[in-house]
Amino acid sequence: MTRRDATKEEEQGSSAIVFEGVSKRYPDGTVAVEHLDLTLPAGELTVLVGPSGCGKTTTLRMINRLENPSEGRLMIGEQDVMRIDATRLRRRIGYVMQHSGLFPHHTIADNIATVPRLLGWNKKRRRERVDELIELVGLEPSLASRYPHQLSGGQQQRVGLARALAADPPILLMDEPFAAVDPIVRHRLQQEFLDLQRRVQKTIVMVTHDIDEAMKLGDRVAIFEPGGAVAQFDTPSRLLAAPASDFVIDFIGADRELRRLALKRLDSLTLDSGLTAPFDEVVSRARSYLQQAGSGGIVVLDSDHAPLGWLGWEQLKRAGDATRLDALDLQPWRHRLYLHDNLRTALNALISAPGEVVPVVNDEGHYVGVIDRLQLTRQLV
Ligand SMILES: Nc1ncnc2c1ncn2[C@@H]1O[C@H](COP(=O)(O)OP(=O)(O)O)[C@@H](O)[C@H]1O
Ligand SMILES: [Mg+2]
Repeated sequence: MTRRDATKEEEQGSSAIVFEGVSKRYPDGTVAVEHLDLTLPAGELTVLVGPSGCGKTTTLRMINRLENPSEGRLMIGEQDVMRIDATRLRRRIGYVMQHSGLFPHHTIADNIATVPRLLGWNKKRRRERVDELIELVGLEPSLASRYPHQLSGGQQQRVGLARALAADPPILLMDEPFAAVDPIVRHRLQQEFLDLQRRVQKTIVMVTHDIDEAMKLGDRVAIFEPGGAVAQFDTPSRLLAAPASDFVIDFIGADRELRRLALKRLDSLTLDSGLTAPFDEVVSRARSYLQQAGSGGIVVLDSDHAPLGWLGWEQLKRAGDATRLDALDLQPWRHRLYLHDNLRTALNALISAPGEVVPVVNDEGHYVGVIDRLQLTRQLV
């Protein structure tokens, strides 16, 4: 690669991060990372997950040279990080520290503008960028002049993220970014972060000890085991479908099957068209539908083609022949299932459903078919 190509790549930053036999031994003899071979693809979100003390933070900190490898080689694209000037390297890499790591005596605006200031941006450009970032991470503009201790944990995390993104680095490192906030805030931050990543498409490496977070956010997940080695590196669905060892199985947890269901959406299945009748149909006709189909009940649809409720065979047997279906006591579903819902949500809906099936609707709320227990269990084998 020529020098010009290297500079170009550095600017565009569309590079994978590659660990080649990397180990890290601390001066006291602790082996934090043991012979790591790992390729983190460009533009993807890779999660490093594992129990405490297994080398995740150390691995992360070697990428921006806050720690140096004791052995092996760490490449960003075609470049060996040990040959890149550390200051230049860190300008290309945003870093969100554990516990936000904000400067307590700087305002939120000054915290966010840390790297632009180091890069010598003028005041106007810095202020514009701060405004942009405050909006991007969903903070109130009025918070800009406050100090970190005047913000909630969740707000501080957002500031940490804004600061890391300030100079638009192609690579983002995040160390347990959502660990310090309560579960509800965490859930919202995770969701917003996923949306943000869809827009910015950076190469992101995130550390967490929370397997749920790893499975939810990661394009790929590296499961670390004690001793600083990687037990498995794969996509979430591959980890669930083919865990490489007992350690991985234990770490993922006993509800592996349920997690697999959560990764698959209803629109990836061919739904059964199900047995339906319009709301103004009469009971005698509905009975003959049921007999012909050998079904235990029927989905009644309203005039918009939306599911109105379920009618079981017992109810139909008792009703008068000429009665309209909407005059009967239809059993509603507690959950409405959309095509974009996942199969775990479908299973929950099925458990509380009046019949053996749950109707599925499209974004407009129109009936598209049904899901039943058999279809779901087939997904588990
Ligand atoms: N500066 C250090 N000096 C000595 N040992 C360290 C240092 N930093 C971390 N360690 C040790 O290295 C191992 C891995 O630590 P770390 O990378 O922080 O793990 P994790 O982020 O997975 O919890 C642990 O045993 C930890 O105690
Ligand atoms: Mg750590």
